[in-house]
This record gives sequence, structure tokens and C-alpha cells, in this order.
Amino acid sequence: MVVALNDVWKTYSTGKVKFDALKGIDLQFKRGEFVAVAGPSGSGKTTIMNIIGLIDTPSRGAVLIDGRETASLNRDELTRMRQEVIGFVFQSFNLLPVLTVFENVELPLLLGRKGSRSAALDKARRKERVERLLEEVGLADKRFNRPAELSGGQQQRVAIARALVNEPAIVIADEPTANLDSENGTRVLDLMKKVNAEYGATFIFSTHDKTIWEMATRIIFLHDGKIERGAATA
Ligand SMILES: Nc1ncnc2c1ncn2[C@@H]1O[C@H](COP(=O)(O)OP(=O)(O)O)[C@@H](O)[C@H]1O
Ligand SMILES: [Mg+2]
Repeated sequence: MVVALNDVWKTYSTGKVKFDALKGIDLQFKRGEFVAVAGPSGSGKTTIMNIIGLIDTPSRGAVLIDGRETASLNRDELTRMRQEVIGFVFQSFNLLPVLTVFENVELPLLLGRKGSRSAALDKARRKERVERLLEEVGLADKRFNRPAELSGGQQQRVAIARALVNEPAIVIADEPTANLDSENGTRVLDLMKKVNAEYGATFIFSTHDKTIWEMATRIIFLHDGKIERGAATA
């Protein structure tokens, strides 16, 4: 099991008001799965994606990545796991505007810590890997452009290349198509599916769009912080 959530709860506190955004989530993901987390706005999709992506921690319950209980990791180990095991694609692309497309994709390789896999890559190896990924997402000819010179769909394809550059075991995409029209949204999903098949990484993406969630091999339906159906692995 590449990811497991055991009785995960998330409680947000605003002043004296407490709100349970996740209420006892039990989930497992196998290597290479292409899973949609579906549900209406406010159902807890972003909360669950951030917890799986180690951006946020549960209030209760356990998150296991590659069989390791993440609560027992120290800060450095957690950062390292986030950088090396997980790739993240955001709803709003989150590319750095001052960097070129090439530099945006290369960035995670430069953030690798001393002794990490990516820190061992020299400039020529980094260039080779970034260019291969830009080929893969169909944007090799845009490598010297800035994000603002690209369409939304192209920016999201750059973000997918960036998420893959460290060869993560898991790619998390929180509503990756929410800011795209349906044609570009489908293209982005087609690309995610292609790289899922080629690299074998587990893809977990959230969406409230039916046409998108139907492209998944498994759909997990969230409602008010609980799983309605889809918890069992295929
Ligand atoms: N930082 C926060 N503080 C308080 N409540 C929050 C916070 N983040 C999310 N929530 C609440 O938790 C619920 C789930 O939010 P979220 O995970 O963003 O859902 P979704 O991504 O499905 O729209 C919502 O009711 C939202 O208002
Ligand atoms: Mg959300």
C-alpha cells in the first residue's frame, strides 16, 4: 500500500467554534492507481489532499506513506519525504512568474537536500530530465517562456512536469482542472493518465466535475467529511 489513512479526523477551530472537516476517513491506495476524490464544494477534498500530500496533519488518526507512519517523522524527514515521494499539482497552477518554464520544472531538483537523490544530479542531467518532461507534456518549444505567456492549460501541463521531476511515487492534484475550460481540462487529465501509465506513479486527484471523475479507475465520493462510497481498492 503506497498510502493508507486510518481513522483520519481533521478539526478546524475558529475562535471557540470547532468544525470537523474530516470524520474518520479510512482509505488505502495501491501503487499505480489513478483515483478521483469526488464531492461537492466544502466536502473536505482539499483537506484530505493536503493531508495525503503531507502539507497538513490530521487532528486524529494515522497517515502511512510507503508503510511509514508519518507522525513519527521529524521535520527534516517529513520535508524530505514531501520532496522525494510526493508531487503536487495545484488548482491555481502555482508557477513562479519570474522563472521560465524550464526553470519552474527544474526548481524541485534544486531544492533537494544534501544527500538526497536529486541533489546528486549535475546540471547536464537536470537539463536532460527537464527537457524530457517538457517533451512529454508537449511544451518543449515553450521552455524559455514565462508562465504568463502560456494559456491556463499549458501552465497546468508545466505544473505536471514540475510535479514529476523528482520521480515521485505519488502525485496529488487538487482540482487540477477547476480553472480550465472543459477541453483543456480533458487534455490535462489525458496527460495525467498517460504519465500515470508510463511512470507508474499513484495519481490521486480531486474534482467536482463528473466528466473528469469518470476518467478515474476508482472514484471516492466524499460528503460532509465522510466517504460515501469508493473506499475499497479495486
Ligand atoms: N482553515 C480552515 N479553517 C476553518 N474551516 C476550514 C478551513 N479549511 C477548510 N475549512 C472548512 O472545512 C470544510 C472542508 O473544506 P475543504 O477541504 O476546503 O473542502 P473542498 O475542497 O471539498 O471544497 C469546509 O466546510 C471549509 O469551510
Ligand atoms: Mg477544495
